[in-house]
Amino acid sequence: VQIAREPSSLSALLDGFRSAGRRLGFVPTMGALHDGHLSLIDKARAHSDVVVVSIFVNPTQFGPNEDYLKYPRPETKDLQLLTDRNVDVAYLPSVAVMYPSDASVTVDPGPVGSEFEGRFRPDHFRGVLTVVAKLFHQVRPTVAVFGSKDAQQLFLIRQMVRDLNFAIEIIEGETVREADGLALSSRNAYLKAAERSQATRLYRALSVARTAFKSGVRSLEQLKEAMIDSIAQDRVVSVDYITAVSRDTFVEIDPVPDESLLIGAVRIGSVRLIDNLVLKAA
Ligand code: PAF
Repeated sequence: VQIAREPSSLSALLDGFRSAGRRLGFVPTMGALHDGHLSLIDKARAHSDVVVVSIFVNPTQFGPNEDYLKYPRPETKDLQLLTDRNVDVAYLPSVAVMYPSDASVTVDPGPVGSEFEGRFRPDHFRGVLTVVAKLFHQVRPTVAVFGSKDAQQLFLIRQMVRDLNFAIEIIEGETVREADGLALSSRNAYLKAAERSQATRLYRALSVARTAFKSGVRSLEQLKEAMIDSIAQDRVVSVDYITAVSRDTFVEIDPVPDESLLIGAVRIGSVRLIDNLVLKAA
C-alpha cells in the first residue's frame, strides 16, 4: 500500500490513475479496522480499479464528553491489514492537515441531522459531513463505500451528495455481524467481558420487531413496544431510541410500510451501540 499524509502527496499518487481514466473507489474510515471495513474495501474493489482508504479519527464528529482521545489508533496493524487486502493507497492526514486552526465553514446536515443520533450527539453529523466533503474533494473518487450499520450517516451522505452535486456514486456495504448477531464496530473493543453478552440485546430487539412485522404487525407503537419490552428484560442495557423510519426520508412512519428501517441505539455501561435492520413483509 502506498501512503499519503497530505493532499499534495495524495494527488501525486492518484493523478496518474485519474488521467489514465481509472475508476477510483474510496472507503473513508477512522481506523481500528475490522472485518466490516474489509468487506467495504472488497466492495470498493468490485466497483473500481484503484482502491483508496482513508484513516482519520475526525475530532469534529466527537462531542466534548465522547471518546475522541481514547478512540483506538492501531496504525501499524491497520496498514498491515490494508497491505494484505491489496489496497492501493492509504490516506492518513493529521488533524492539522485537515483543519486549519481558523477553519470555520462546515456542512449543515439539515433537519434529519438533529434527530435520533443527532439528539444524543449534537453536531456529530455536521462533523461527519464536513470531513467527508473535505475527503471527497481531496480524493475525488468515482465511487465511495459506506457501511449500512451507520444508517443515518449513510442517509445524510447520500443527501449531501445529491444536494451539493458531488459527482460521486455512493455504494452501501452490508453490516457484518458476529455469529450471535452483534454488528461489528470499532467500539465493540470497549465492551468488558460481562457486557459482551448483553451487547446482542439491541440486535435481538430489532429481530423481535422484524418477526412481528413479518407476521403482520404494522403499528409503529406496537413494534416499538415489542423492541423496548425485549430490551427491558436486561436492566443493564438502556435505550437512547428505538423505532422505525422510512428509508426515503429517515422520518418515523405509521403504519410502518414494507422496506422501512428499524433503528436503535443503546448504552451498556459507558459503551454506546447502534444498529438497524430492514423490514421485509415476505
Ligand atoms: O463511519 C465512519 O467511520 C466515519 O464517520 C467517517 C465516515 C469515516 C467520517 O469520519
